[in-house]
Amino acid sequence: MNAPRAANVQLGPYALNGRVLLAPMAGVTDPPFRTLCAEFGAALTCGEMLSANQALWHTAKSRRRMAASGAAQTLRAVQLAGADPLQLAAAARAQVDQGAELIDFNLGCPAKKVCDQLCGSALLSDEPLVARLLDALVRAVAVPVTVKIRTGPDPARRNAVRIALLAEGCGVAAIAIHGRTRVERFSGQAEYATIRAVKSAVRIPVIANGDISTAQQAHAVLALTGADAVMIGRAALGAPWIFRDVNVFLESRQIAPQLLRTAITALILRHLESLYAFYGEYTGVRMARKHLVRYCERQTDAGALRGVLLAAENSVAQYDAAQRGFGEWANALAA
Ligand SMILES: Cc1cc2nc3c(=O)[nH]c(=O)nc-3n(C[C@H](O)[C@H](O)[C@H](O)COP(=O)(O)O)c2cc1C
Repeated sequence: MNAPRAANVQLGPYALNGRVLLAPMAGVTDPPFRTLCAEFGAALTCGEMLSANQALWHTAKSRRRMAASGAAQTLRAVQLAGADPLQLAAAARAQVDQGAELIDFNLGCPAKKVCDQLCGSALLSDEPLVARLLDALVRAVAVPVTVKIRTGPDPARRNAVRIALLAEGCGVAAIAIHGRTRVERFSGQAEYATIRAVKSAVRIPVIANGDISTAQQAHAVLALTGADAVMIGRAALGAPWIFRDVNVFLESRQIAPQLLRTAITALILRHLESLYAFYGEYTGVRMARKHLVRYCERQTDAGALRGVLLAAENSVAQYDAAQRGFGEWANALAA
């Protein structure tokens, strides 16, 4: 699963082992999920967005997003959100002190909570401030700094090329682009023409993101944009093996054989165990529900299981229900 792959992406001193990355998703891409995706061949698994405001770092939620919270199997990448150069630089240094090997800067999040504080994608409207922030970050740490953006504030102002050039000028190591503007949030279809234009404009690695849900789509987006890598978010939920499927297709143009249902059941149970270990009983059970629902959705004939799994009130009951339910689902095919 982890054999060296052709055409790897270079991020500063690091050569990534592959061209498909896990997109950071707050509330989803915790260390247990990132570890699973890395095992299936995600070449980089960045952590969930962490505020650069260290006054907020005492909460359990923030602590779990930090570099020290647990190693995924790829580089320890921490994503920061903020709009104050000094605060951002201090946060980046603190995360590197905790072991972060890469700092990603969030210029893509459209969430109101984030944009109201002029963070995330709201910053795309203020190019001089973006330059100051990136300059401060790059100067603050010796590890590579990457940036994740949208194509612009709105369809009339797609300034991704200018932001990318500015990022490159500041010494940013790579740029990931979600092919939607800020106002589009998650509506419509991601477009890749802007990503292609960015790729033509800069020399740093460009990572294409948005609406990639199959190996063939990953291949098509790489071909269309000329990007160095693709980043997958939502399609990995309930199907962390998508990274293996993409790697197999990119290497051989073959569709990877479907995972055996017994193997899927084993990985779901392993995922549950790691969630309970990472979050503890109360939060672990609640986080697990989110993933279990997605595992059910991906398996067309496991739909009836959903209610049973959601009704379980503690980890023992939840684990037993998953073991029994997915076990029966796996055996139904074997019979
Ligand atoms: C639940 C959720 C949480 C997200 N959280 C973050 C985040 O913390 N940082 C970030 O840069 N992007 C975040 N995103 C955006 C994704 O990284 C990605 O750009 C977007 O989902 C498009 O990719 P996809 O179509 O492969 O899902 C989030 C997306 C979702 C659905």
